Amino acid sequence: MKRIGMLTSGGDCQALNATMRGVVKGLANNLDELEVYGFDDGYKGLIYGNYRMLSSKDFSGILTRGGTILGSSRQPFKLMRVPDEKGLDKVEAMKQTYYKLRLDCLVILGGNGTQKTANLLREEGLNVIHLPKTIDNDIWGTDMTFGFQSAVNIATEAIDQIHTTASSHGRVFIVEVMGHKVGWLTLHAGVAGGADIILIPEIPYDTEKIIDALNKRTKEGKRFTILAVAEGAISKEDAVLTKKDMKKKLEERAKKFPSVSYEIADKIFKETGLEIRVTVPGHTQRGGSPCAYDRVLSTRLGSYAAKLILEEDYGYMVGIINDKIKKVPLEECAGKLKMVTPKDQTVEAAKRIGISFGD
Ligand code: F6P
Repeated sequence: MKRIGMLTSGGDCQALNATMRGVVKGLANNLDELEVYGFDDGYKGLIYGNYRMLSSKDFSGILTRGGTILGSSRQPFKLMRVPDEKGLDKVEAMKQTYYKLRLDCLVILGGNGTQKTANLLREEGLNVIHLPKTIDNDIWGTDMTFGFQSAVNIATEAIDQIHTTASSHGRVFIVEVMGHKVGWLTLHAGVAGGADIILIPEIPYDTEKIIDALNKRTKEGKRFTILAVAEGAISKEDAVLTKKDMKKKLEERAKKFPSVSYEIADKIFKETGLEIRVTVPGHTQRGGSPCAYDRVLSTRLGSYAAKLILEEDYGYMVGIINDKIKKVPLEECAGKLKMVTPKDQTVEAAKRIGISFGD
């Protein structure tokens, strides 16, 4: 008999359901008795004791369903040790829920912040297993997070669709891709969609270099240019600002432009007079059904988590490294971000074929 608690926390993505299905099917097929408690809206459900008992039937037919059957919410790690508005100690409350339900383990699906709280609960003595979700693919200790490839497909499709209209009108287009801190999604969608210029947070841009790339294309007789720009793209000048000054700068920018892409569009227009449009696919990148790659990855990660639970081997993130599923100690990966480096082979390949990073 095993009692498992499960929650999905942070921004959602595709394949959350597929991963939970992998865990529960992996357990149900190997145990006579299994109780699964699903917490509502991430850590909130664990803190306030909002949960439902689920049966393995609840996990049938959800392989292809996007979103999460449990609901999700953002519960910032930095506030976990801060009592709520009624003075409730959140960490103690989570522990109480865990012990009250006599759980053997908590299966926690989420990104970086979620992982930090999972590690905190491990330090507090709870049995936890973390499964790495995020369209950002920025979790250290795994080559791939589930949700990433599905989001790459959607962002690529957006760039593909812009291509035809950009070419008809001979315009410059910016497609803004999700990713405030890291540029994996923009890099991959940009390369897959044939973007001409890719701007990511890890490689600060120089506006003049962007203009050079645009002029080069015009000289070559190309009628249009497509820029894939990450939400967190940053100029060389801004990259050297202190945290405080950057915050001020972003507050000022928000008064004039809805996002970074509009600011870049404005700079390009002022310098070149070129006709320029911005498209923001936004949360569509996190929506809909998981792609085939993510369904396979989720099944592999989820069923491996089930194996760890059966072996009572806790305190890990389950990741994938060189196509092998691996358990990574939470104390090793929690709090680390996996970023694109300028030496990344995809960046190098992109540069070799003439894609500009504005650097
Ligand atoms: O972390 C996933 C992510 O989709 C980021 O790429 C994006 O910047 C952010 O979440 C958006 O967050 P929210 O859903 O809270 O607007």
